[in-house]
Amino acid sequence: MEVVVKETYEEMSRLAAQNIAELIRRRPRAVLGLATGSTPLGTYKELIRMHKEEGLDFSQVVTFNLDEYVGLPEDNDQSYHYFMWENLFKHINIVPANVHIPDGNALDIEEACVDYEVEIDDHGGIDIQLLGIGSNGHIAFNEPGSSLGSRTRIKTLDERTRKDNARFFPSINDVPKYCVTMGIGTILEAGKLILLANGANKADAIKAAVEGPLSASVPASAIQLHPDVTVIMEKAAATKLEREYLSEPHKLEL
Ligand code: PGA
Repeated sequence: MEVVVKETYEEMSRLAAQNIAELIRRRPRAVLGLATGSTPLGTYKELIRMHKEEGLDFSQVVTFNLDEYVGLPEDNDQSYHYFMWENLFKHINIVPANVHIPDGNALDIEEACVDYEVEIDDHGGIDIQLLGIGSNGHIAFNEPGSSLGSRTRIKTLDERTRKDNARFFPSINDVPKYCVTMGIGTILEAGKLILLANGANKADAIKAAVEGPLSASVPASAIQLHPDVTVIMEKAAATKLEREYLSEPHKLEL
């Protein structure tokens, strides 16, 4: 696992965007796994800048998002469909048919979950999966106790997650109770994982995910099983870590 600690949120975001841009330049048909939440916003801003100023081309890129609330209309401003179009897709030249976000309004959600996994496979799997981390250690909406082998499915949101996300809704009663999320097993099949974290409220979760034991109680600790993970964080999220980490990705000098 590569762990990189940056001074600022902007530097964290730039490094994540550079990783994604390098993949797209090398592989124009890249399959990206994308995340919502406040953490990746800076990364998306930088990708939009690269598209506008440097011609980063998304015309063949395929995306799969991690999760979505159940029962929120796609045009609700708290749905993850809305979030992705507002904060990334409408600013770049992605083809709408290449965008995949779990359907929280499907008539048969369980079937839609199975179809989602099949679609990922049909595209040859995800090349880079971007991840945030919940203050309770969740990745995507895999709350503590999620099976480390789980697949895309319906989950009940943790009360802590509902409280964390209540800031975006009129009241906590408006936060959906259920979601559809890729499973931890699904996430671990991506070619590379990039986990981002900023802010002191993530320091405990980061410590547990990066240095703690592997445990379903801290779903993000499952990244320790993956052979190609980069954790990029801003220094406030790193304050509880005990080992020393670099401020730049490691370069082999043979
Ligand atoms: P945040 O959420 O980026 O809004 O902190 C991260 C998460 O819950 O996975």
